[in-house]
Amino acid sequence: MAKTIVVIGAQWGDEGKGKIVDLLAERFDIVVRYQGGHNAGHSVQVGDRSFVLHLLPSGIVHPGKTCVLGNGMVIDPKAFFQEAERLMEQGVEVSPSRVKISSRAHLILPYHRALDHTSEERLGNEKVGTTLRGIGPAYEDKVGRRGIRTADALVPDVLRSRIERNLEDANRIIMAYGGQKLSADEIFSEMSQLTERLSPFIADTTHYLNVAATQGKSILLEGAQATLLDVDHGTYPFVTSSSTIAGGAIIGTGLAPNRLTGVLGIVRTYTTRVGEGPFPTEMLEGEAEMGQLIRERGREYGASTGRPRRCGWFDAFATRYAAEINGFSSVALTKLDVLDALDEIKVCVGYKVDEQELDSLPSVSQEMRRAEPIYARLPGWKSSTLGTTEMNALPPEARRYVEFLSAQIGVEIGLVSTGPERSQTIVVQDSALGRWMAE
Ligand code: IMP
Repeated sequence: MAKTIVVIGAQWGDEGKGKIVDLLAERFDIVVRYQGGHNAGHSVQVGDRSFVLHLLPSGIVHPGKTCVLGNGMVIDPKAFFQEAERLMEQGVEVSPSRVKISSRAHLILPYHRALDHTSEERLGNEKVGTTLRGIGPAYEDKVGRRGIRTADALVPDVLRSRIERNLEDANRIIMAYGGQKLSADEIFSEMSQLTERLSPFIADTTHYLNVAATQGKSILLEGAQATLLDVDHGTYPFVTSSSTIAGGAIIGTGLAPNRLTGVLGIVRTYTTRVGEGPFPTEMLEGEAEMGQLIRERGREYGASTGRPRRCGWFDAFATRYAAEINGFSSVALTKLDVLDALDEIKVCVGYKVDEQELDSLPSVSQEMRRAEPIYARLPGWKSSTLGTTEMNALPPEARRYVEFLSAQIGVEIGLVSTGPERSQTIVVQDSALGRWMAE
C-alpha cells in the first residue's frame, strides 16, 4: 500500500509544521488540507525564498504535486485568490490542474467575518482570541445545516436564496451589537463573481482521493492549527471550530480510515499559544524575560495575524495526551536551536492535581485550568546547534534534552529541526519518519 500520512501539530499550533510538510511534500504525489481555513499560517522557507501559506497546502511550492482542499475546510474565496495571486507572483503555479477544492467544502462569507467580531465582543473578558477570519461562524452554519458549500454556490438561485435567508439572522445579531447592516445584493454580487472564478477548481475530491489511493498514489494530509485546538479534544472552549486531530483527516477528506499508514506529530522544544485559554507552563511574571527571549529567538509572532505568541516551557503531560489521541508513529522535534542561549531548561513532566479531583474532571482543558506544573530541570548547552545535520554532532546536553523529550512523550524522534531552512535538519534514518523520507 502506498503511504498515506497525516501530519499534526501536537501543541497549540505554530510548531513549525510548514517546514516539515514542505520537506515531506516532495516525497508524496498529493498534499491535502482537511480542516480549518485561512486562520492557519504556515511559513515555508526554500533557500532564500519565503512563502506564507494560509489556505493552500504546503505542497503547492513543489511543481508537479497535486494539492487538495478537502471537504472539512471552510474557504473564503477572496482569501483563496489573494493567496493564489501572491504565490503566482513568486512563480508558483496555482491552477485547476493541480489544485482541487472539494465540492463539499463550505464557504466563508462576509457575514461570517462580521459575526466572528460580534461574537468576540459579546464574550468580553471571556473571548477566545480568534483570528477574526469568520471560521467559527462558518462552521456554525455548516453544523446548523444552513451553510453554503462550494458546489451550491455555483447555482445562482441557491446562492442568492441562502445568502438572503442567512443574512436576515446575521444582520439581527450584527446590528444588535452596533455593527453595520450588510447588504444581500452586495454579498451576492461579490460571491457569485468569486465562486464563478472558483468553479474550475471545484471537484469531488473524496472520490479523487480514494481512487488515487487505490492507484497507489502517496498522500500527505496536512493538519492545520493543532491537537489542543481541536473542537472536541482541545482546551474547550478556547479552541478552533474544526477537528484538527488525526481522526479529523478521515472526516475532512472522506478517505477511508484503513488508508492511513502513519501519523507524524510535530512537537516544538517549547510551547506557544496565540489567543486566550489555559497554558500551565506559560512564562509569566518572574519568567517574562525568558518568554521574551524565546519569542525573539524563535520569531514567535503569528504568521496570520502578527500577534505576539505567548511562550512557555515544554509540556510533556499535554504532548503525551496528543500522542495518545493521534497515535503518533514518529515525532519531528522543531526549533532546537532556539534554546541554544539557555543556561537551564525546564520541562513540565506532570501536573500537581488532586487525584480524586482528576478523575471527576471531564477534559484536559479543566485539568489545565487548575494545573500546577511539576518541572524537571535540564542543563542547557550554551552553544550553537543552528544548522546541525547529525545527531552525534549535537552537544551532549542537547542530545540528552532530545532523548528526554522522546522518553517523556513515549514516541521515537524521527527528525530534529535545527533552523528554518530545509537543510538545517537531522533525520533519524532508522525511524518511521526516516523511512517515509527514504521511500
Ligand atoms: P479561530 O480558528 O480563528 O476561530 O480561532 C480560535 C483559536 O485558535 C484562537 O485561539 C486562535 O488564536 C487559534 N488559532 C487559529 N488558527 C491558528 C493557527 O494556525 N495557529 C495557532 N493558533 C491558531
